[in-house]
Amino acid sequence: MLSRILSLVLVFLSLGQAAVRQLEDQMSLGGYLFLVNKEFMLSADYVPDDLVMPDVRRRTGSVLMRREAAKALEEMFAAAREEKIHLVAVSGYRSFQTQRAIYNRRLQAAGKAHVDRFVAVPGASEHQLGLAMDISRTKDTGLKASFGTTKEGIWLAENCYRFGFILRYKTEWEAVTGYGNEPWHVRYVGVDHAMRIRELDIPLEEYIEALRQASALAGENEGSDQ
Ligand code: DAL
Ligand code: ZN
Repeated sequence: MLSRILSLVLVFLSLGQAAVRQLEDQMSLGGYLFLVNKEFMLSADYVPDDLVMPDVRRRTGSVLMRREAAKALEEMFAAAREEKIHLVAVSGYRSFQTQRAIYNRRLQAAGKAHVDRFVAVPGASEHQLGLAMDISRTKDTGLKASFGTTKEGIWLAENCYRFGFILRYKTEWEAVTGYGNEPWHVRYVGVDHAMRIRELDIPLEEYIEALRQASALAGENEGSDQ
């Protein structure tokens, strides 16, 4: 694992300064690699400024995403449909206030141990970024772990990368991400990063850390030859 991350650092270093600057943009708020988790949280007033409604089958009336992610979602749903995989968008952008309402409702209904593993506290949800979507089968009503073993869930896990999405919460990453298995939750990062993350098979936290190290090293190298 460490050697694979190291090789990512080396690949990135070889791309040069332009790539480092582009990466810094992507990792800042508003970029597609911005990390949100239990440690790195969003302020209550953060609302993306390019939210749109993707033209896909939706469980509820309003399922917003940031423009680029919404377009990628449309392409992914269309590709799935061609293979007779019928997906439905269940939950996209959620404001800080909506996340708070969901958190409190789930806390009452399912208890603290459940929300700790499956529901972010307000400010800690990727849904507030407008880059996450919960996806289900058209024939299901809720979000279930068993989705991961259905043909639709397997298709999503195998193909979401092609459209710039990653599976964010896998069982084996729980110690890093802080959440249990969520085969329904995909996060948009763009195709290049998604393909690399899939290849490395690491959580976003570790990928971002590798890129940060590469970026810091590139910065040191830039100064050393002046
Ligand atoms: N279910 C994920 C962790 C969220 O609430 O954002
Ligand atoms: Zn989700």
